[in-house]
Amino acid sequence: MSVSQHGMWSSKLGFLLAAVGSAVGLGNIWRFSYVTAENGGGAFVLIYLAAIVIVGLPVMIAEVMLGRAGRQSPIHTVATLARESKASTGWAWIGWSGLICGMLILSFYCVIAGWTLSYGTTYLLGLFTDGPAVSDAGAHFGALTSSTGQLLFWHFLFVALTVFVVARGVEKGIESAVRLMIPSLFLILIALVIYGMTSGHFMQTLNYLFQPDFSKVTGQTLIAALGQAFFSLSLGMAGLMAYGAYVPDKASLPRLCALICTADTAVALLAGLAIFPIVFAFALDPHTAGPGLVFVALPTAFAQMGWGDLYGLAFFTLLAFAAWSSTISLVEGGTAYLVEQGLSRPVAAVALGGGAGTLGILSALSFTHLKDVSLFGRNLMDNIDFVASNVLLPLGGLGIAVFAGWILSEKLRHEQLGGLSAATYTVWLTLVRYVAPLLIGLIFLSSIGLI
Ligand code: PHE
Repeated sequence: MSVSQHGMWSSKLGFLLAAVGSAVGLGNIWRFSYVTAENGGGAFVLIYLAAIVIVGLPVMIAEVMLGRAGRQSPIHTVATLARESKASTGWAWIGWSGLICGMLILSFYCVIAGWTLSYGTTYLLGLFTDGPAVSDAGAHFGALTSSTGQLLFWHFLFVALTVFVVARGVEKGIESAVRLMIPSLFLILIALVIYGMTSGHFMQTLNYLFQPDFSKVTGQTLIAALGQAFFSLSLGMAGLMAYGAYVPDKASLPRLCALICTADTAVALLAGLAIFPIVFAFALDPHTAGPGLVFVALPTAFAQMGWGDLYGLAFFTLLAFAAWSSTISLVEGGTAYLVEQGLSRPVAAVALGGGAGTLGILSALSFTHLKDVSLFGRNLMDNIDFVASNVLLPLGGLGIAVFAGWILSEKLRHEQLGGLSAATYTVWLTLVRYVAPLLIGLIFLSSIGLI
C-alpha cells in the first residue's frame, strides 16, 4: 500500500467530503447565478450540464487518478509519472499552471468570501435588535463594496482562515467541518427553494433556467459554460490531483468522482431555483446585478421572511464554510510542493496565502479606487477571474486529459482504473483521448475568434 508523505485521508469518505467541500463553494451559488444571468439563462445551463458530463467527469477521474498514481504534490507527481512513462518531465507544466491558477483564484475568491463573513456578522448582530438586520439590501451591499477598509479587512481575515487550516494539515479540520456543513447547506437551500416555490415566481424561474434559447449562444457562451464547469468542479488547477494523492489504493475513483459531480451540480441547480424566484419577485435585473446578485437578492427575501435574520445567519455562515473548504484546496497543492522543497508546512502556507492575499488587493480595489480601470471591457477582478477560470482551468484540463490519455503508460492507467469493466474503461479512455481535448480545443479557438 503506497502512502503520501503529506498524510492520507482516513477513508474514502474522508476524500469524498474534502473533494465535495472543494467543489461546492461560491462557484455554485455566487458565480453560477450571476454567470447564468449574464449568459441569458436556459441555453447556458444546458451547455454547462453537458460540459460536466462529457468533459468534467472524465477529466476529474483523470486528475484524481494522476494524483493517486504519483502520491506527491501535483508538480512532482506529473514529473515522476512522465519519467516512469518515458516522457518529458516538461509535462510538469500542468502542476505549475495549477499552482499559479490556484493563487489567482484565491486572490479574488477571498474578497467575495469575505463578504459572506461580513453578512454573517450583520445577521448575527441583527438577532439582538428589532426589525430585519438588512432592510435595504441594495444599499447594504453598496456600503460594503464601496468601503476599501471593510473589503480589505474581510478579505485578509478569510486569507488568514485559509492559511490556518492548511498550515495544520488538512485531514482533521476539513474532514470534520465538511461532514457537518454539506448536509446543512443542502437543507437550507431546500428551505429557500420552497420559499421560492411559494413566492409565485417559480414558473418564470423554471422557464428562465431550463428553457434554452439557442439564439443567445455565441462562442462566449460556450467558453463561459466550460469555464463555469471547470471552476465549479475545482477542475484543471490540480487541486483535486493534490487531494487524489491522499486517497487509499483500493477506493474506486470513477464512482467517487461521479458522486462529487452529482453533489456539485445539485447544489448549483438548487441555488438557481432558490435565487431566481426572488430576483424575479422583486424585479431585480439579473443581467446587470453582476457579482452582487446573491448578496442583494437573498437579503431582500430575508427581510420579508419570518425569522429572516436567522435564515440570513445560517445561509451566510454555511456559504462561508463552503467557501472555506474550497480555498483550502486552492493552496494545498502549492503547499505540498514547497514542503517537498524543504519548507515547513506553516511557512509554505503563509508564503502562498500572503502572496495571493496581496494580489487580492487588486480585486478588492476593483470595487472602489480602481473601479474605472478597465482592460478588454472588464475590471481588474473580472480579468483575473477570466484568465484563471476561462483560460488556465480549461488549459490545465486539456493537459490533464492528454497526459492521462496519451502519455501515461497503460500499466499505470490500469493500476488505477483496473476495477472498471472493459466497456466503461474504453468509454472513459475515448472521452479523455479524443472528446475532451477536441471540445476544449474547439471552444478555445472559437473564443479567441479563430473559428
Ligand atoms: N469549486 C470551487 C467553487 O465552486 C472553487 C474552486 C475552483 C476551488 C478551482 C478549487 C479549484 O467555489
